[in-house]
Amino acid sequence: MIHFRIFTISLLALCLILSEGHRGCCLVNVWQPPSPNITHLLAVGDKQSLMVRWLVYHCDLVGHINEVQISRTENHIITYAENVSVPADVTEYTWTWTSDLPLECVDHSVRIRQYCNQSVLSPWSSWTTNPGVQTEDKTKAFPSERVLREGASAMFCCVSPPGVNIIEMRIYDKAYPLISFGPRVTAIAVDKLTIPTTYIKMLILQFSDTKGRHGNVGNYVSFPPQKLRNLTCMTLDMINIICSWDTSRKRYKWDRSNQTQTLRIENTNQAPISCQELSCTFPAIPHLEEYNVRVVVQNQFGEETETHSFNISDRVSPVVDWARLSPQVTDATVSWTVQGNVTQLNLLCQVTTEPHSITELWCNSRCTVKLEHLLPNTQYFARVRCSTNGRVWGKWTEPRFFKTGLLVTLNLWRKIKQLSDPHSREITLLWTSDVPDFAKNQQYRVQWWQEGNNGTQGKDIGQTQMEVCIGPGQYTFMVQAVLLSGHSIPANITIPKMDNRVKVVEKQLSSHTVGGFNLTWAQQVSATCGYTVEWCIESSAHSCDLQWKKMPEGNNTLILPDRHFKDGHRYTFNIYECTKDGHKLLEIQSGYSQELQTVQSPSLIEPVQSTYSSVTLEWRYNEADPTHPAFIVGYLVTVQDTLPGPNANMLSVLVSDPQKKSVTIKDLEENHEYKLSLSALTNKGPGQAATVVIWTKIKFSAHLAKILTPIFLLLGCISLLWPQRKKG
Ligand SMILES: *[C@@H]1O[C@H](CO)[C@@H](O)[C@H](O)[C@H]1NC(C)=O
Ligand SMILES: *[C@@H]1O[C@H](CO)[C@@H](O)[C@H](O)[C@H]1NC(C)=O
Ligand SMILES: *[C@@H]1O[C@H](CO)[C@@H](O)[C@H](O)[C@H]1NC(C)=O
Ligand SMILES: *[C@@H]1O[C@H](CO)[C@@H](O)[C@H](O)[C@H]1NC(C)=O
Ligand SMILES: *[C@@H]1O[C@H](CO)[C@@H](O)[C@H](O)[C@H]1NC(C)=O
Ligand SMILES: *[C@@H]1O[C@H](CO)[C@@H](O)[C@H](O)[C@H]1NC(C)=O
Ligand SMILES: *[C@@H]1O[C@H](CO)[C@@H](O)[C@H](O)[C@H]1NC(C)=O
Ligand SMILES: *[C@@H]1O[C@H](CO)[C@@H](O)[C@H](O)[C@H]1NC(C)=O
Ligand SMILES: *[C@@H]1O[C@H](CO)[C@@H](O)[C@H](O)[C@H]1NC(C)=O
Ligand SMILES: *[C@@H]1O[C@H](CO)[C@@H](O)[C@H](O)[C@H]1NC(C)=O
Ligand SMILES: *[C@@H]1O[C@H](CO)[C@@H](O)[C@H](O)[C@H]1NC(C)=O
Repeated sequence: MIHFRIFTISLLALCLILSEGHRGCCLVNVWQPPSPNITHLLAVGDKQSLMVRWLVYHCDLVGHINEVQISRTENHIITYAENVSVPADVTEYTWTWTSDLPLECVDHSVRIRQYCNQSVLSPWSSWTTNPGVQTEDKTKAFPSERVLREGASAMFCCVSPPGVNIIEMRIYDKAYPLISFGPRVTAIAVDKLTIPTTYIKMLILQFSDTKGRHGNVGNYVSFPPQKLRNLTCMTLDMINIICSWDTSRKRYKWDRSNQTQTLRIENTNQAPISCQELSCTFPAIPHLEEYNVRVVVQNQFGEETETHSFNISDRVSPVVDWARLSPQVTDATVSWTVQGNVTQLNLLCQVTTEPHSITELWCNSRCTVKLEHLLPNTQYFARVRCSTNGRVWGKWTEPRFFKTGLLVTLNLWRKIKQLSDPHSREITLLWTSDVPDFAKNQQYRVQWWQEGNNGTQGKDIGQTQMEVCIGPGQYTFMVQAVLLSGHSIPANITIPKMDNRVKVVEKQLSSHTVGGFNLTWAQQVSATCGYTVEWCIESSAHSCDLQWKKMPEGNNTLILPDRHFKDGHRYTFNIYECTKDGHKLLEIQSGYSQELQTVQSPSLIEPVQSTYSSVTLEWRYNEADPTHPAFIVGYLVTVQDTLPGPNANMLSVLVSDPQKKSVTIKDLEENHEYKLSLSALTNKGPGQAATVVIWTKIKFSAHLAKILTPIFLLLGCISLLWPQRKKG
């Protein structure tokens, strides 16, 4: 016991003596753990971090303190020191330190010692060095081509060759105070980096040295991922799903941060999907309805993440492809298909046509709808969109233009000609169209059938009239224009049974001062479908250009203005009633739009008979000739004394019956010369005159007449018999 104490005291004394000059040596003598061994020293990432790895000695205690020192330059100027607490179960520890100065600028060395407790500590390990860059010719600057964080502070350095000093370092226009790290390293410190406003957004460091040389390096500035906003997912076709989101700040074009976006479907074991900056497209998983997705955006400065859950059936925004659009006159058939794998879903689709109207229908992937109540000959545009649930709608398609067809109604009429065969009739069908310039180069379909028979006959024809022979029965004809958009509305006409017992009213129309015609006729109860008035217009000599006008039921007045008619030409109007058995002739009315006075003169029959006191005129005249420029209402004879003088007088005689062709003018003077003029009379006045000059006879006594008469009779007999004698 005493021995032990003596030994201890003497050791302590020795220690005190020795520790006068060398205290550490004293502790070694007590007990020292070994110094940690640095196994790795690496500049990592963007060469601004040092990764240090060392073997840990455990002093049988829970937790160790390893004191780390970092020094710069060959002179080991301590830059940083930290007591690192190492967990008990770790044998090799990794520790990272981030430098404010790029590691290329100077040598960075690390040493470590271990504290077991306040009093027991290991010696320092030897310095392990991550060397800075050396240069022999040109000045080098750091960092270079690196991505720096916006808003952070940064140091930039220049490493110059021996004997050269940096005299200026600037970023754009701004020169910064120089900081020296030994003879060959010069640095500047920049606070709060900003993204340059220059076109390429590069941060340029410029420097110049004592040799008058200049250089520059560029770096990028970027920022951490931004918070994801409005993350939402949809599918156009149930094949691919598109998730998209927004951020408050977009990456600029020259951003060099290593930002990545990934999407993970958390309720499946699918591999993460790599995304675009603001969207992600990935294949739908068959039979999966509910999706929980997580989007992670990362770069060297940070990470942002956002999650979203949805039921794919609620997120279908179907894409519509136009298939067909076939417009008719008042409707249009529209069909479309829906892209992708949505056939198993019921689709609700909407079609709009402008002017605004919406048609809705349920359909499957191929849909067809007839848009109705459209206006004819009108430009429309249609758009379609579909939905799987009536809440989420796909985009409207691009508008498709279409034009509805012309509304062509045909005005159909007929001529009936009895053929020599009493059982055959020749029908000429004539039609016009209400659309100007339509009728030419147009195809028509004509169909007809006999009442009571089942068969229908038909013919396509390229002109607006057609002849066909039919029997004595009742026939119906139907004519339609063949249009691109189908057929026009059919026009029908019924040809009645042959009937010879038709009673027709004939009427002469008196002409009006204004010209034109005002036709009226007796209303018929049987005219259930109105009336038709037909007439001819002479297009060339003797050709009849048949005109007709249909009047609605109950309208028995037709006024035709004079511009369609020639003056002095007689027009005949046939008025038909329309009954369910066809058109029947009711009245024939004829007249002049304007009568002309210029009727031809009658031809006088000569010699004119006269006595000593009278003259009997006889003439020939076709008063009913329809070519007369007016109706003949009678004749006018004027008698004129040829001898001038105070008692020369004039006399007129009116014959008011146009069929009477003779007149006797009495009370003339005997043995007197008269000039007689005869003209046909119209409502406009007398026409051209035929004239004759006569002498009235001398008045004999009655006695002389009794003597002379047998002589005249004898002379007459001789003259009659004379030719007989010659023959005999
Ligand atoms: C460090 O290395 C030395 C020699 O190689 C060794 O003796 C010492 O035990 C090591 N230290 C640790 C903590 O492993
Ligand atoms: C580490 O801990 C020791 C002992 O507590 C102390 O002396 C030393 O100053 C510490 N070092 C640092 C860098 O805090
Ligand atoms: C420090 O650790 C040593 C060795 O484990 C031990 O002997 C000593 O008592 C400790 N000192 C203190 C103050 O805990
Ligand atoms: C997007 O999110 C912001 C808030 O994060 C909100 O104000 C905005 O209305 C959202 N936009 C849409 C289209 O949902
Ligand atoms: C379409 O959907 C059915 C049922 O969900 C699925 O089985 C099929 O694989 C899908 N087809 C495509 C091309 O996605
Ligand atoms: C980006 O680059 C840094 C180093 O510059 C690296 O540590 C990090 O893992 C990279 N990030 C991504 C998302 O690749
Ligand atoms: C998804 O939505 C559809 C239609 O709304 C529904 O029938 C189905 O049950 C939903 N699925 C889940 C997993 O909620
Ligand atoms: C018309 O056809 C129907 C059946 O289609 C038939 O019953 C009828 O007897 C036919 N009539 C004539 C007149 O052929
Ligand atoms: C013409 O006859 C056809 C066939 O009988 C019928 O469908 C059509 O409605 C008729 N049209 C008119 C204008 O009467
Ligand atoms: C047409 O004649 C009818 C009957 O004769 C008459 O009532 C009507 O006023 C006439 N119209 C014109 C415009 O002359
Ligand atoms: C008869 O028809 C003509 C046009 O065709 C029209 O001007 C007239 O007003 C109609 N009269 C009646 C009574 O409907």
